[in-house]
Amino acid sequence: MKVLILNGVNLNMTGIREKGFYGSLTLDEINEKIKTECEKKGIECDFYQSNHEGDIVDKLHEARTAYDGVVLNAGAFTHYSYAIHDAISACEIPVVEVHMSNVHKREEFRHKSVLSDVCKGVIAGFGYKSYILGAEALLND
Ligand code: DQA
Repeated sequence: MKVLILNGVNLNMTGIREKGFYGSLTLDEINEKIKTECEKKGIECDFYQSNHEGDIVDKLHEARTAYDGVVLNAGAFTHYSYAIHDAISACEIPVVEVHMSNVHKREEFRHKSVLSDVCKGVIAGFGYKSYILGAEALLND
């Protein structure tokens, strides 16, 4: 089982920005933890992050034939990107939407995701563990 861990805008600043919401581990450190935990479960992970909407769209298109599923933290794109919404539909493999913070406890604009209806499910509020839970949720899919 091969999964893409896909991170969108500002997630490269994890460990530096808003540590109260996202913790103090860097994205590389988080990815190491995801890799270790996923390997134990027989899940092979690749990792990609971009601050550019079109790169996320391109990666979802590529994922269609390269992966069994995607764990996607689109960052703020979550709240307004219809382009990423349509790319999720186009990729035809299961995509799990994840957030490190509990977006429902935060500002109102974060309560709305334009991606959730085309995702397999949503996991929010468990810090970096949200990614691991997301990958596990794809098992047996
Ligand atoms: C986030 C939540 C989003 O609202 C925010 O814009 C992010 C990160 C999270 O992981 O909690 O950049 O997706």
